[in-house]
Amino acid sequence: MRGIILAGGSGSRLSPVTRAVSKQLLPVYDKPMVYYPLSVLMQAGIRDILIISNPHHLEAYRRLLGTGADLGLRLEYAAQPEPRGLAEALLIGAEFIGDEQVALILGDNVLHRPGLGALLHEERGRLVGCTLFGCTVPDPHRFGVAELDASGRILSLEEKPDNPRSNLVVVGLYLYDNEAVARAAELKPSDRGELEITDLNRTFVESGNARLVPLGSEAIWFDTGTHDSLLQASVFVRAQERLGRPVGRLEDIARDMGFLADRRVRAAG
Ligand code: TTP
Repeated sequence: MRGIILAGGSGSRLSPVTRAVSKQLLPVYDKPMVYYPLSVLMQAGIRDILIISNPHHLEAYRRLLGTGADLGLRLEYAAQPEPRGLAEALLIGAEFIGDEQVALILGDNVLHRPGLGALLHEERGRLVGCTLFGCTVPDPHRFGVAELDASGRILSLEEKPDNPRSNLVVVGLYLYDNEAVARAAELKPSDRGELEITDLNRTFVESGNARLVPLGSEAIWFDTGTHDSLLQASVFVRAQERLGRPVGRLEDIARDMGFLADRRVRAAG
């Protein structure tokens, strides 16, 4: 499976902080924001990862993360000239994805849950169509909202609805089989001129091969796109660090996942 991190966008809600700096390079406590989504992909065992950002910020990501070889990863970079929507990542990344499956993650999402790596690994193994992950929140109207039937099947997906049908929202991590690339190419821009990820996901709901996995009450999820949520995420990471439960430490994850041992073997060979 290939991974894509979406680290573009306009970051208008964090203005003026983001006027000259890419949002996903801002610190969440002691690490750049992009470390956290990268750590989620790594926990899922994904090592081939494309980072997408605005053309004028791409060089900063390259400087920060390089080829990824230090972490036993293979990182590539691609530009999104304008923020034309999350689903455009699948078109920008089409060549990178090739005929593999793909995990798309938003560069401003901090997601933490005990056993997350094992869960993602399991979901990779059973992926058909698309797999979404859900969290229960008090303010669902800010996000993509899912409605499930009694058996857990998705009945509807709505982007930022005025009257949400549930408190279950779709977090910024999406697993797709290769079909998603062709489906993204068929999407029409929304009224706000973007290729909407919810429109893409809805096509999988309609064809009966979308699955939503609730992450449960132990999951912590921040979309760090506002000043308050950015601060809350920093406070959370600091609290975890003090409890000896670090979050988003790439070197530790690379070692635990066996990426570094493998790298040494490859270097020796
Ligand atoms: P958003 O937070 O929805 O948008 P934004 O980052 O532009 O912020 P704001 O609403 O404050 O202007 O985007 C979610 C994530 O996806 C974030 O990490 C930025 C990224 N993104 C892209 O990379 N390309 C895009 O076209 C869009 C819309 C978002």
